[in-house]
Amino acid sequence: MPLLSSNTFALLRASHGSWRDVARHWRYRLDRALRRTGPKATSPDIVAARAAFERASAHGEFSTTWFDASIPVWVPALAPHARATHPARVLEIGSWEGRSTLFFLSYLPGSHVTAVDSFAGGDEHAAGYEVSATERRFDANVAPFTGRVTKRKGLSGAQLAALVAEGGERFDVVYVDGSHFADDTLLDALLGWRLLMAGGTMIFDDYLWRFERYGLARNPSAAVHLFLKLVAADHAVLHAGYQVLVRKTRSLTHYTG
Ligand SMILES: C[S@@+](CC[C@H](N)C(=O)[O-])C[C@H]1O[C@@H](n2cnc3c(N)ncnc32)[C@H](O)[C@@H]1O
Repeated sequence: MPLLSSNTFALLRASHGSWRDVARHWRYRLDRALRRTGPKATSPDIVAARAAFERASAHGEFSTTWFDASIPVWVPALAPHARATHPARVLEIGSWEGRSTLFFLSYLPGSHVTAVDSFAGGDEHAAGYEVSATERRFDANVAPFTGRVTKRKGLSGAQLAALVAEGGERFDVVYVDGSHFADDTLLDALLGWRLLMAGGTMIFDDYLWRFERYGLARNPSAAVHLFLKLVAADHAVLHAGYQVLVRKTRSLTHYTG
């Protein structure tokens, strides 16, 4: 894989990215090529966050640890929400067995997570995964945090549209990690953005993930590029690597109703 992919250029074009974003992205690609996790992974904040997460998830039953590589990227991006005067409200699209849910709960003091998942798995989980156990594991894994998690079982398009229509809760963090079809990812991004407060953070997982069977144009990166073009005036890129993290810099009035 070339160090600088056409994806990088597409992302930067879509987001009006600066050379700082290019440098961050190169650094990520280099670290990955050299199989380093990057020097920041050993900073005290990240070490402490990882330790707290390990304690919060020690009781759990997990068949995958996909989430864990995100910690060094998430800690600096979520730090303002951890320090905020009000507990963060998180919308998680794609919870699986609750590992990422537990990170939010452990890193963001007093936070509340609205967890949206069909618990049916994605196409990519059709073979080699025990999808039928996912919901049971999620329930058991987050059980110690009763009162801080709301489970909304169903397809994300319908669940997020209902949240928008209800006109109630708005979120400080929206994490997009549900269906990895580009059209679903785009729908989650658009509805999630309406639900995200100005100053909030949106996290796209699996930006560089490739599932050949879908065709490259249907992978999440296609949705991220389109989405960032649409909100070009309203966001700043915090990180562009395997994941893309953006801060919402302003809310148009019709978003917040
Ligand atoms: C990659 S997993 C999430 C992993 C989790 N965030 C973690 O880090 O451990 C994707 C999840 O999205 C769910 N999912 C896939 N398509 C969905 C859809 N259209 N609506 C709601 N959930 C969906 C699957 O059931 C699965 O649990």
